Amino acid sequence: MAKKPLRIGIVGYGFMGRTHSNAYAKVGHFFDLGHEVIMQAACARNEEKLQSFASQWGWQTIETDWRKLVERDDIDVIDICTPNDSHAEIAIAAAKNGKGILCEKPLGLNGPQAEKMLAAVQKAKVPNMVWYNYRRCPAVTLAKELIDEGKLGKIFHYRANFLQDWTINADLPQGGAGLWRLDAKVAGSGVTGDLLAHCIDTAMWLNGGVKDVTAMTETFIKERKHVETGKMQKVTIDDASAFLCHFNNGSLGLFESTRYARGHKALYTLEINGENMSLKWDLHDLHRLQIFDYKDEGKERGWKSVHVSDGDQPYMKHWWVPGLQIGYEHSFVHQVADFVKGLDTGKPAGPTFKDGLATDYVTDAVLKSAKTKRWEKVKQIK
Ligand SMILES: NC(=O)c1ccc[n+]([C@@H]2O[C@H](COP(=O)([O-])OP(=O)(O)OC[C@H]3O[C@@H](n4cnc5c(N)ncnc54)[C@H](O)[C@@H]3O)[C@@H](O)[C@H]2O)c1
Repeated sequence: MAKKPLRIGIVGYGFMGRTHSNAYAKVGHFFDLGHEVIMQAACARNEEKLQSFASQWGWQTIETDWRKLVERDDIDVIDICTPNDSHAEIAIAAAKNGKGILCEKPLGLNGPQAEKMLAAVQKAKVPNMVWYNYRRCPAVTLAKELIDEGKLGKIFHYRANFLQDWTINADLPQGGAGLWRLDAKVAGSGVTGDLLAHCIDTAMWLNGGVKDVTAMTETFIKERKHVETGKMQKVTIDDASAFLCHFNNGSLGLFESTRYARGHKALYTLEINGENMSLKWDLHDLHRLQIFDYKDEGKERGWKSVHVSDGDQPYMKHWWVPGLQIGYEHSFVHQVADFVKGLDTGKPAGPTFKDGLATDYVTDAVLKSAKTKRWEKVKQIK
């Protein structure tokens, strides 16, 4: 039987434009889905570079204005891979035009903006998802399965780090196409919305909602030259951010992220401690889940490193043969597969815009607490 086409229009051809293009191109080879994913149109403002990107990755047509893209009749889903300050405008326009939406993270620049995005997709009743892709590294998904099966028992602690070192140099400018992450007008915040948002999404998926937070942030370099004005300007982002929290289930959380941890390029680690079992994961070894099971025989009890590559482990039956691992890019393939399966079955896969808003509420509370120097409650979604 012919599959229903699912025609994607992607906005942005940077880092995420590439990871998503790779995922759309591969998903149909490895997953048997009810829809055929069609790479219908790529959109960005520079026509020459866009044409070259489209040819390289297999996008069938191009569009230089996202406003035209969201109005096209031959597009079913808009994929937003642009810097954070454009997510809301594009998503709300796409929803008004009845398009499904896959939006990069963080959902909005802040909670109030993300609320408008959620309202728009709810009003239009269109499928929606946010690209918090780390949920779909098979070892992380395995952690979710073990937690949902009740293997850990009562949870006491959750901790996560996301460490980088690429902004230590004081001569690095801020803003413009390459360094928009250093400009809070475009990024919303610094490492809180960029890196901690990933940790928070995974944490709430594994361990439930966050009740309240107490945080500290620091901006180590106070002024940098702005690429657009050529002038030294105040740095408005947080360079480092750390917070403590209570989860709604009574467990305690500890989170840290920075772009000043010399030697670390993208070290995302998480650990969860339950009364019967603890789990640890590390992005640099992403195909492994560390498990400590208190039920193990006394003499043999200890941490074991499970190589998540067997057919009965999450997603792995779709890939090669047992023992052969997969990597970073596959988390995006899995996310597309789950989004399409959600359309096939009518059971939408997360993280939806509602989940994206929940993360924005936590990052808002973190940034607020860093200013007030008090515990701040996290707004809950009813
Ligand atoms: N899921 C993840 O792990 C992950 C990783 C990196 C980035 N991100 C998110 O993805 C988004 C994009 O980040 P990136 O690293 O790909 O950035 P990038 O700077 O590499 O690419 C951004 C792209 O958007 C295009 N663009 C900007 N404004 C546009 C407009 N008005 N119309 C059309 N195109 C426009 C740029 O030309 C560029 O192609 C951000 O929201 C970021 O937070 C997510």
